[in-house]
Amino acid sequence: MHLSIKNLYKTFDDFVALDRITLDVGPRDFVCLLGPSGCGKTTLLRIIAGLLPFDGGMLTLGEKDLATLPAKERGFGIVFQSYSLFPNMTVAENVGYGLRVRKEPAARIAARVAELLELIKLPHLAERYPHQLSGGQQQRVAIARALAVDPSLLLLDEPLSALDARVRVAMRSEIRQVQRRLGIPTIMVTHDQEEALTLADKVVCMNHGRIEQIGTPQEIYARPRTRFVADFVGISNLLPADWVRDVLPELAGQCPEGDTKARELCLRPEDIKVTADGAGEGRVTEVNFLGNLTRLNVQWKGRELVAEYNGFGAPEVGESVSLSVTPSAGAWVRA
Ligand SMILES: Nc1ncnc2c1ncn2[C@@H]1O[C@H](COP(=O)(O)OP(=O)(O)OP(=O)(O)O)[C@@H](O)[C@H]1O
Ligand SMILES: [Mg+2]
Repeated sequence: MHLSIKNLYKTFDDFVALDRITLDVGPRDFVCLLGPSGCGKTTLLRIIAGLLPFDGGMLTLGEKDLATLPAKERGFGIVFQSYSLFPNMTVAENVGYGLRVRKEPAARIAARVAELLELIKLPHLAERYPHQLSGGQQQRVAIARALAVDPSLLLLDEPLSALDARVRVAMRSEIRQVQRRLGIPTIMVTHDQEEALTLADKVVCMNHGRIEQIGTPQEIYARPRTRFVADFVGISNLLPADWVRDVLPELAGQCPEGDTKARELCLRPEDIKVTADGAGEGRVTEVNFLGNLTRLNVQWKGRELVAEYNGFGAPEVGESVSLSVTPSAGAWVRA
């Protein structure tokens, strides 16, 4: 089923929380809503879920107009940021909750619960209560509960944000595997760019209630269209067009193709390579060892650039270095 959002508009009093949001979610898509705190991610998710009304635009699922359809008739699975398990129910009872509400036969509920606990790899914890589980286990149960009713759409609002870094990464790939296996269209909110880039088929970059760019993770990273996207996703050198035209041909041999409205060039650190020859025009101002590579700040022709050095023997602060830019690297971005 295809979810279609057209020119969706939402205000809280005179504050515009969502400004003409247009987005399509295909039947097997994993979409991540990515953006800073307060940009409208949860608001958009709650509107899709039917937990919040909207003020303008269209929201349809296949042929169905969702504007007038109450949340419980939408058949969506929802997982919120904070653990929202029922504290007085066991894991198995939590997972089976939606099926009991639907008055499914007990034997079917038991079979479905067993299948889902298998899927989230927690069959041995069926009789525990939420307070006897770790944060990661609780979120897995919340996901199983959302999946129990065979949702036509899975909505996840920062389901991993309360977990520590290692558990997050492990859970991330579990969510992705489950979603692929079941083929359920999924919209997940996150303000973690790494999470969005690793999980999504489609990243929706939001800022101040607007969509700045929609694209594959590769497009968003390599071809950001706005300064906001370039800055929010990954590390970028944002270089004014005049400066680039003056000095960059000398480094790169040529500039990338230009967008006429663009004001700045976004160059990623990996597009600028450092050679420690002790003789170049660059001067190292900061060194960050990252294990597999070293990231350096280099003062070069009046600007501080973030560049990369591969291998051992990275230059130190104060050393003179040469820079080389990958020809045609980078993307022109608008304000
Ligand atoms: N019920 C409400 N009444 C008034 N303003 C609201 C209401 N709900 C949200 N807002 C405002 O709308 C904006 C978007 O809120 P939203 O919760 O969608 O942000 P978010 O992108 O999910 O942020 P976070 O990453 O912090 O969760 C915020 O400025 C928020 O203060
Ligand atoms: Mg939120």
